[in-house]
Amino acid sequence: MAKHDKKGQGAANAGQAAKPAAQDIAAQLELKPGQSIALLKALHILTRDGKLNQDSRRKLKQVYHLYQFIEPILKELGADGHAVTLADHGAGKSYLGFILYDLYFKAQGLGRIYGIETRAPLVEASQKLAADLGFERMEFLNMSVAESTQADFMPERFDVVTALHACDTATDDAIAFGLEKKAKAMVLVPCCQAEVAACLRQTKALSLARTPLAELWRHPIHTREIGSQVTNVLRCLYLEASGYQVTVTELVGWEHSMKNELIVARYTGHKKRAAADRLQQLLAEFGLEALAQSRFKLPQHAVAPAALGEPAAAVAAENAA
Ligand SMILES: C[S@@+](CC[C@H](N)C(=O)[O-])C[C@H]1O[C@@H](n2cnc3c(N)ncnc32)[C@H](O)[C@@H]1O
Repeated sequence: MAKHDKKGQGAANAGQAAKPAAQDIAAQLELKPGQSIALLKALHILTRDGKLNQDSRRKLKQVYHLYQFIEPILKELGADGHAVTLADHGAGKSYLGFILYDLYFKAQGLGRIYGIETRAPLVEASQKLAADLGFERMEFLNMSVAESTQADFMPERFDVVTALHACDTATDDAIAFGLEKKAKAMVLVPCCQAEVAACLRQTKALSLARTPLAELWRHPIHTREIGSQVTNVLRCLYLEASGYQVTVTELVGWEHSMKNELIVARYTGHKKRAAADRLQQLLAEFGLEALAQSRFKLPQHAVAPAALGEPAAAVAAENAA
């Protein structure tokens, strides 16, 4: 039996308001049956008098697009009546969590969403909004991603981990959380990343002398960009080496966000040795070996004794398998 929020009126009701403008808004927002208008107002996607807030609409479009990727995962994981648990890291105002709950969890009547966020006022606002809307199976925790991984009151397992533009290394912490909680899926849209760029800067002079490829990060702006790029490549290899199948696509058009790389990782249990090797090689090539002990720590058996010098074909073959 589908549950409905206390204050939300469905899209159909919004349509029944019968003003052509309201119908137009419903069409522009691509509202789905049962979707809470009260939620969209609370998230400032609609103004109090039901008009569209263009800035927030951009955010909604992003979240809807992400939902298209997450919904099939939720349906698959919840197919046998399993109560799906989802952790949304760096939740901010919890747009993503609220939309996921409204569009999927609400009607399921089971499952739970945890929003993890370090900014207390945002957590308090989300707690209040969830209470107002009667979204009972949402929890908002005022703590860092890393703290949530260690918190003993958190469930031992999570099915899905999301992190939408979680700042800097919070995406890495979300991956660590997913691995610890044996997540079946991780959906990540990384934000700017500074850690690798800082390491690259430190070894720049040496690298410029050693390899012409270091030209790729000689200028500061390139150091920053390649730092982000390398980080995401390392994250993908790390996930593959940890038993996940990874796809990388674009979230939405560049006009909406400069950071729109979408990484979807599904657990298969096949820990790709070639990916682990390539990860080690790449870290060595960029002078980032220290990260092998912190961010990208692999179980010993995942690392081949002579990782360097393995043919690229090994990675391609294993990826194709
Ligand atoms: C750019 S906002 C994105 C918010 C939201 N996911 C969205 O897309 O609308 C990043 C959020 O992550 C939070 N954050 C940054 N580092 C964090 C950490 N280590 N643990 C938890 N939250 C963090 C920030 O406070 C901020 O609200």
